[in-house]
Amino acid sequence: MTSTRTDAVALDESSPLRHTRARFVLPEGVIYLDGNSLGALPAGVAARLAGVVEGEWGTGLIRSWNDARWMELVGRIAARIAPLVGARGADLHVGDSTSVSLFKTMVAAARLRPGRRVIVVEPSTFPTDGYIAAGVADLLGLELRWCDPADPVAAVDEDVALLTLTHVDFRTGAMYDMAAITAAAQARGALVQWDLCHSAGAVPVDLEGSGADFAVGCTYKYLNGGPGAPAFTWVSPGLQADARQPITGWMGHASPFAMTRDFAVADGMTGWASGTHPVLALSALETALEAFDGVTVEELRAASLSLTDLFLRLLDERLPELEIVTPRDHARRGSQVSFRHEHAYGIVQALIARGVIGDFRDDGAAPGIARFGFTPLYLSHADVHDAVEHLVAVLAGAEHLAPEYAERNAVT
Ligand SMILES: Cc1ncc(COP(=O)(O)O)c(C=O)c1O
Repeated sequence: MTSTRTDAVALDESSPLRHTRARFVLPEGVIYLDGNSLGALPAGVAARLAGVVEGEWGTGLIRSWNDARWMELVGRIAARIAPLVGARGADLHVGDSTSVSLFKTMVAAARLRPGRRVIVVEPSTFPTDGYIAAGVADLLGLELRWCDPADPVAAVDEDVALLTLTHVDFRTGAMYDMAAITAAAQARGALVQWDLCHSAGAVPVDLEGSGADFAVGCTYKYLNGGPGAPAFTWVSPGLQADARQPITGWMGHASPFAMTRDFAVADGMTGWASGTHPVLALSALETALEAFDGVTVEELRAASLSLTDLFLRLLDERLPELEIVTPRDHARRGSQVSFRHEHAYGIVQALIARGVIGDFRDDGAAPGIARFGFTPLYLSHADVHDAVEHLVAVLAGAEHLAPEYAERNAVT
């Protein structure tokens, strides 16, 4: 039985998240399937930023560090992100970029395993993870070892200090079993770190329950914090007393305003701060996270799977020739669906011209990948249905072969 638009609308009417779309500002006529790259604008953020800029900064000036409680922003945001990743707010730091968070955690992990000389990275991970691991290996005289994506633990032996993996793959949307891999790598004596950029706010994550050692994640994708929003860093409570991050700036000092000559690290995750935190970006992020108020991770996951299931079903019905690279198995699927195509870039551009926004990712090995992210807070089943109709029309009319799509933009 084929799936109709009426079926899609019926699914929307019974969805527990049907009210959360109103928490976002989305342009008329756009179906936004790129929340796995940059989340949409949450409704209160523009007003919050205007208030912080004009009131707190413009009028309050330096007094706002105390009066507007700018120092408390990091802790308040950590407490909001924590339940989305199965952690306590006290075990998170927020404020660096993901890349800098990766640097800090990788150095700390290597220092916790002084006899072990290897960092294991998965080769199809987001490039920055590999680049940072290479930089850390170079800095500390370690070796970078690539693992088999299908069996990352096989590369972990008695030389390995850290296995660092991305939980949900940025190209395919494939998801690892965090608890099983963590336990298997730890049984071989390694520490395990998870990059949650494509997980936080989209799929259930249980950092504490899975026994992970470190985690990092960005906040500009499914957490909707805005372009370049600060990342979070999580360190297992059991490691915090011994883990030492390398960028020992004054904001990680036990008493920054004592202005002492020598560094004395602050307790807990405050010691993971380095310099002054980005108040404007954190203010936007704090308000953005209100979009999750009253929404459980289970509801998010159920809605996300319902959207990706429908997208996959419609692709199977309408375009069975497409090479889907996202796992069908719910346990292995994140919140995106991707397909490989010789003209993936042109397809994505032709869809964007029709108001259906996804993106393209190169795979090194051609052909590239067209990616579609499904943010359950603001996407409907009707959007999914309409997006597939547009895709069918693009391919039927060969719109993706238009000469203007032969050259790629700087950001794909
Ligand atoms: C898995 C993963 N890690 C890291 C990053 C980016 O790191 P940064 O926030 O430092 O730009 C991305 C960006 O898309 C990503 O997908």
